[in-house]
Amino acid sequence: MTKNEIIKIFQEKFGNETPEVYASPGRINLIGEHTDYNGSFVFPGAIDKGMIAAIRLNGTDKVRAYAVDLKESAEFGLNETDAPKQNWARYIFGVCRETIKRGGKVGGFDTAFSGDVPLGAGMSSSAALESTYAFALNELYHNNIDKFELARIGQSTEHNYVGVKCGIMDQFASVFGKAGSLIRLDTKTMEFAYFPFNPKGYKLVLLDSVVKHELASSAYNKRRESCEAAARAISKHHSEVKFLRDASMDMLNEAKSEISAEDYKRAEYVIEETQRVIDVSNALEKGDYETVGKKMYETHHGMSKLYEVSCDELDFLNDLAKKYGVTGSRVMGGGFGGCTINLVKDGLYDQFIEGAKKEFKAKFGHEPKVYDVVISDGSRKL
Ligand code: GLA
Repeated sequence: MTKNEIIKIFQEKFGNETPEVYASPGRINLIGEHTDYNGSFVFPGAIDKGMIAAIRLNGTDKVRAYAVDLKESAEFGLNETDAPKQNWARYIFGVCRETIKRGGKVGGFDTAFSGDVPLGAGMSSSAALESTYAFALNELYHNNIDKFELARIGQSTEHNYVGVKCGIMDQFASVFGKAGSLIRLDTKTMEFAYFPFNPKGYKLVLLDSVVKHELASSAYNKRRESCEAAARAISKHHSEVKFLRDASMDMLNEAKSEISAEDYKRAEYVIEETQRVIDVSNALEKGDYETVGKKMYETHHGMSKLYEVSCDELDFLNDLAKKYGVTGSRVMGGGFGGCTINLVKDGLYDQFIEGAKKEFKAKFGHEPKVYDVVISDGSRKL
C-alpha cells in the first residue's frame, strides 16, 4: 500500500487532517537460526515487504486503531489494565507500554495500518508492526530512544504482551535494515556489520509452504527453555559460560548426563549453528557461495533432526531443492511452517521454481508461494 492510499483510508476513518506515515519491513535471515536468544550470531536483512501506518496524535489519552487488512477497529487506553482484546491491537498497546516503561512519553493517537508481509510465513510481520510503532512514537513524541532500544521495545512487546520469548533478530533487522546489505549481528555484544549482498549469478528466493502450525509460540518458548537448561548445566562446570554461544561440544558432552536427551539435541544444534554463521561470514567475504549453500543445507538438517522445528512440507521443499541442484536451502525463521530460503543459480531458477510448484502441489494439494528477496531499508518515515 502506498503512502497516499493509507492516508486516504486514515482520513475516511478519522477525519481530514493529514497524518504522518511510517513504515518498517519484515526480514529474511541467511543463516543463524534460533541463535539470537543464545547470545550467538544471526545474519538477517530487511525486505521489501512490511507494514505502513498513518498516525496522528489526537490529544486524548486513548488510542484509536484501524487494521485495514482485517477491517477491524480497536480503542484502548494506555494504562497496564487497558490491554485490548484483539491480538493485533495488543502489539500496538505493547509498544506503547514498553515505550512508557522506558521513560518515553506516549499519549492518545489515531492510526490506520496495513501490511504485505505474508502472515505466518516466517518473515516477521509482527516485528514489522512493532518497529513501525516504536519508531513512529519515538519521533512523534521526541523521546530520543536509541535504535537498539527501539528494537528492544518490539522484543519486550512479544515477551510481555504476546507471550513469545523471542530473541532480538527480527526487530533489530526491521529497525536497522539497509538496502542491498545483510547484517551480521552478535547478539551478545550487539555489535553488527553490514555485508553488501549481491551474489552474482545467484538468486535468493523464498518458497512458502503456506502451512502454519498451531502452538508454534509455546514450542518456540520450549526450545528456549531447553537451551537455557543446557547452558545452566554447562555453567556448573565452566562458570564463564552464560549462553550456549560460549560453550563447545566438549563442554556440552561433559554435562550430558545432567540434562535430558532432548535438551542435549537442542544445544548441539545451537553450538553447531554458531560455528556455521562464522563459516558463512568467512565464505561471504571470499564470495564463496558454494560454501554458503552447503552450510544452509546443514542448518536445515539440524533444524529438522536436532532442533525439530521443521515439518513434512518444509523437509519436502528442502529435498526438492537438493534434487534440482539448488546451491543452498533451509527452513527460515522460527520454523513450524513458513518458508524455505533458497540460494539458486540463475540458470536453474526457472526449472527449480516450476518443478517445486508442480511436485509440491502433487503431494500437498496446493502450490507453495514464491517470493523473490529484495533486501531493503529499515524503519523510516515516508
Ligand atoms: C523468530 C524469533 C527470532 C528468532 C527466530 C529463529 O523469528 O522472533 O527472535 O529466534 O525465530 O531464529
